[in-house]
Amino acid sequence: MVSPLRICLVVLSIATAFTEAYNILVVSSFPSKSHAILGDAYVNLLLDAGHEVTYINANPSNNSNPLLHEIDVSEIKKYLKSDLMNLERILNKEFDAKDQNEFVEALLSISKATLENVDVAKIISNTNLKFDLIIAEWMFTEVYAGFSAIFDCPFIWFTTMEPFWTTFYLIDEASNPTYTTFPMSNNIAPFTFKERVQELILQVAFYFTKEWNMYFVDKELYTKTFAPAMAQRGKALPPYDEIRFNASMILGNSHVSLGDANRLPQNYKPIAGYHINQNVKPLTKELKNIMDNSKNGVIYFSLGSNVRSKDLPDIIKRKLINIFSQLEQTVLWKFEEDFPDLPKNIHVLKWAPQQSILAHPNCIMFITHGGLLSITEAVHFGVPIIGIPVFADQHINVQKAVKKGFAKQVDLSFSIVEDIEDAIQEMLHNSSYRNKAKEFSFIYHHRPISPGAEFVHWVEHVVRTKGAAHLRSPAFTVTWYQKLYLDLIAVIAITIVLTFVCMKLIVRICSRNNESHMKKMN
Ligand SMILES: *[C@@H]1O[C@H](CO)[C@@H](O)[C@H](O)[C@H]1NC(C)=O
Ligand SMILES: *[C@@H]1O[C@H](CO)[C@@H](O)[C@H](O)[C@H]1NC(C)=O
Ligand SMILES: *[C@@H]1O[C@H](CO)[C@@H](O)[C@H](O)[C@H]1NC(C)=O
Repeated sequence: MVSPLRICLVVLSIATAFTEAYNILVVSSFPSKSHAILGDAYVNLLLDAGHEVTYINANPSNNSNPLLHEIDVSEIKKYLKSDLMNLERILNKEFDAKDQNEFVEALLSISKATLENVDVAKIISNTNLKFDLIIAEWMFTEVYAGFSAIFDCPFIWFTTMEPFWTTFYLIDEASNPTYTTFPMSNNIAPFTFKERVQELILQVAFYFTKEWNMYFVDKELYTKTFAPAMAQRGKALPPYDEIRFNASMILGNSHVSLGDANRLPQNYKPIAGYHINQNVKPLTKELKNIMDNSKNGVIYFSLGSNVRSKDLPDIIKRKLINIFSQLEQTVLWKFEEDFPDLPKNIHVLKWAPQQSILAHPNCIMFITHGGLLSITEAVHFGVPIIGIPVFADQHINVQKAVKKGFAKQVDLSFSIVEDIEDAIQEMLHNSSYRNKAKEFSFIYHHRPISPGAEFVHWVEHVVRTKGAAHLRSPAFTVTWYQKLYLDLIAVIAITIVLTFVCMKLIVRICSRNNESHMKKMN
């Protein structure tokens, strides 16, 4: 008799023979909500594909999936001060260059604390552990590349932003600042002369911050963390400069429907939208009722998860409620506190299922801070936006959406309420924004394969080809001076100088001969 257990085992072994399962380490510890959403989405796609995942992160989900091992580094949340993003401070223009230094400090502390976490240290020193692949978030530091050295396996970066010069420079070469933007600038291509100069200055200044200030700290951390672990494994640590440019691939949270048509290296894969589930979760009954019955449409208002609406000054809150109350539309406002005596058409949600709201056919407008995730979701569901950028790449995200024609921008200022009212009225009466949102939504969806499936494909491709060396850019085989043909210029310059010297010598010899000849004649 064949026991049921035996049948189970046979079925299981047949199943695993067809789909090979890998053991993957995912490092995504930047402690902000939107970064966590993007990291979690990768992990869930890997688990769904049957892979085993060890996940170093600051927002553990406590998911009981037996294939998932979460390493909780939530103690690092203390390094990202929330008042960096306080709305009132920004309104009062207390946000300045000093904050960039604070941000760099925060970045350095986060990677240090991640690697010093006791459970992470246990992984690093465990010589019995084996991984097939490392996937790490690149957030201005390459120090996590060390994991690929100790586990002797390939690694992939993922980035949460549109690609810019540092992204390209990790796997190919820096992009040209005359037409590619830096996410912290406010310029979008094509640039005026002044903007072109600004971009150059910004990118060069950032180069020095990154490759001088941060580089030496990162390199020291890399050596301190990974050299003993390599020694335990009887090997020497590869030089930081070799390993940090050795990624097999970069997975970018970008797509041409959202950003620019940049030239991309073969191992950069733009897969924005992979975090959006193909099957949108249904709305709660109450919310569905509200949206179904809003015959004039629903306006959804959310300033994201970093900026809280409750930081808005009271006067602005009151004025907003006043203008919303005069609309024929329903307003769904993600807001973290209760508001008494709200007009009938305004509903405050402490927690908003953003994707499900945007997916509802009655949702006609999205008022957002312009985070890349929110813009991606707006384009996914074809909803036009009013963008109120607050910090970081939000300005440039909103400007790109404005240029594409499906957004209007409103700046944070004390006249914000009047500006929002004007923007809402224009968007309600001019259908071009909605039409453009639908156009770009088509471009976004019209891909040969969904971004989630594409992600799984490339992960398996990198593991199966042992690091995808065939996708590596040949730009790495030449040095910077060869790229600029400085060696050729040197050869030409030396040739010219030598020719000149030779000719001078010949002339001098000839004239001397001439002179002596003349003397003889005399
Ligand atoms: C997971 O567990 C930790 C510690 O017990 C807790 O702080 C955290 O809120 C939990 N996360 C979720 C998503 O429930
Ligand atoms: C609608 O908005 C677009 C984009 O701003 C503009 O080009 C167009 O002239 C507007 N149409 C009307 C009728 O105002
Ligand atoms: C760079 O990556 C390739 C492919 O994964 C690997 O074979 C090689 O050893 C790596 N180089 C270093 C210095 O780790």
